[in-house]
Amino acid sequence: DAPHIPVLCVDGPTASGKGTLASQVAHRLGYHYLDSGALYRITGHAAVHAGLSLDVAHEHTIARMAETLPIVFHADRVLLDGVDVTDAIRTEEAGMNASKVSALPAVRTALVALQQSFRKLPGLVADGRDMGTVIFPDAPLKVYLTASAAQRAERRYKQLISKGIPATLPALRADLEARDARDSNRAVAPLKPAEDALLLDNSGQSVEESVAQVLKWWDEKQAFA
Ligand code: DC
Repeated sequence: DAPHIPVLCVDGPTASGKGTLASQVAHRLGYHYLDSGALYRITGHAAVHAGLSLDVAHEHTIARMAETLPIVFHADRVLLDGVDVTDAIRTEEAGMNASKVSALPAVRTALVALQQSFRKLPGLVADGRDMGTVIFPDAPLKVYLTASAAQRAERRYKQLISKGIPATLPALRADLEARDARDSNRAVAPLKPAEDALLLDNSGQSVEESVAQVLKWWDEKQAFA
């Protein structure tokens, strides 16, 4: 734990635009960036690869895998045991698998230290579901992003189609609502705003507007620090 190192949390549901917002804010501040969802995605990927079902039957085996993940982040690629899994972990299926392993308490515990190790000078912007509630509870700024399910499905649809990945809106929306329900209703570290989180509904906002809002909040926090 490194309370003197600034950290800014962005939590919120699937496809709310957390990743885009958090990575741009990190870039603007010159801070490090943690995409915590990627760690659950990689864990899910590794478990499926090992032939394991993603449930309590293998909770401890998957947790051990999570604790010792042979991952390397290099530029914007992620290598797992030397294999580039950057694209494989971005599919809808990988997102659903991540959501399943993330509901296993031992897996969450196994990833705590790794996530906290990203807190390095000059600072960190972290995105996920429990950055502000569990991983960095002392963070001076916690943003909770929201956007309607319809909006989020629409964004995800455009993203996939622009990458040439086939998708349909109703299926995407059903998928993300199922994932939200699992992430919000699990026993440990469910998706919910921290008590001291500032809510940001980016439904009608451009990315630039959301980035500017968060930077403004950050400046205000610094002024009072
Ligand atoms: O943010 P994402 O879509 O990449 O996350 C994938 C899944 O990982 C998400 O459905 C729930 C889980 N997750 C989590 O439980 N806690 C986090 N801090 C980040 C992600």
